[in-house]
Amino acid sequence: YRNLRIALLGAGSVGAQVADQLLTHADELAARVGARLELVGVAVRDVDAQRTTDIPRELLTADAESLILGSDIVVELMGGLEPARTLILQALTSGADVITANKALLATHGPELFETAEQVGAQLYYEAAVGGAIPIIRPLRDSLAGDRVTRILGIVNGTTNFILDRMDKHGETMEQALATATELGYAEADPTADIGGYDAAQKAGILASLAFHTLVPAEAVYREGITEVSLDDVRAARKAGYVVKLLAICEKIVDPLTLEAGVSARVYPALIPDEHPLAAVHGANNAVFVEAEAAGPLMFYGAGAGGIQTASAVLGDVVSAARRHVVGGPGVAESTHANLPVLPISAVTTRY
Ligand code: HSE
Repeated sequence: YRNLRIALLGAGSVGAQVADQLLTHADELAARVGARLELVGVAVRDVDAQRTTDIPRELLTADAESLILGSDIVVELMGGLEPARTLILQALTSGADVITANKALLATHGPELFETAEQVGAQLYYEAAVGGAIPIIRPLRDSLAGDRVTRILGIVNGTTNFILDRMDKHGETMEQALATATELGYAEADPTADIGGYDAAQKAGILASLAFHTLVPAEAVYREGITEVSLDDVRAARKAGYVVKLLAICEKIVDPLTLEAGVSARVYPALIPDEHPLAAVHGANNAVFVEAEAAGPLMFYGAGAGGIQTASAVLGDVVSAARRHVVGGPGVAESTHANLPVLPISAVTTRY
């Protein structure tokens, strides 16, 4: 196999898992892609900090700029606007494809990053930026590109869903539930982004932009967080047959006053009837309910936060980017390298 050089920026709860899987699944990934994915280094602020997985000491560096030089694929999982923005621009202009999970950055500097990528013929992947493990970027960008999306209802923040769920099920206060969410690695470095609805608003901007082929920056998204939601509110809602969920709503609407057609993107705690599928989204799970003219309603559901779960989406992007570099490598349809036999019915132990 030829070698593709992968540089990882950041080794937090997601980054550490991505590093671990690139190392432990190296042979399987190489066969699937048709090239070795060589993790050439992991840029971190503090090389001596405690991490959730063991990264070989010799891979760690504090010098992100040097690491980027000569890399084929750069994975940005450091979060925050700077230096992430500058490093991604440097990576793209040096010809690398870039993978990021940084919704704050995309919601703020998306146009600049995508323009730069286009100018230099590089690709920017961001499946992990919305909905953690859930594939939702590709479905909106590719699978539904021939349809007309009319509305999206999303539970897109795992931390607030976890908190509201704990308040509802266990009668915990917001502070208690947030402490657990932070411990489990769901919350952002600054949990105000979760609680205040900023994280959900950034994701709503990304979803609305993709779904409606227009630019919806995070500042254009109406936003209310869950800070005003009390235990009493959650209990009263439950009694009346509803559950409180922080919803991201993106839809095509007509302004009733001006009759102007446009897009509405908004985030706020909403009352969902008990029997609605979104009411059954518990814990840190996310769900994105998409309505399209021809396809009708679709629902994407799964783990919306968490290190190893989000790493799944990042690694999918790494494989996509790597396949782009490999001319004549195994394409999606011909990934037959594993040669697994089809087993007889007698081997089946489950009955569904
Ligand atoms: N803090 C985010 C959440 C992580 O709770 O959903 C995933 O973007």
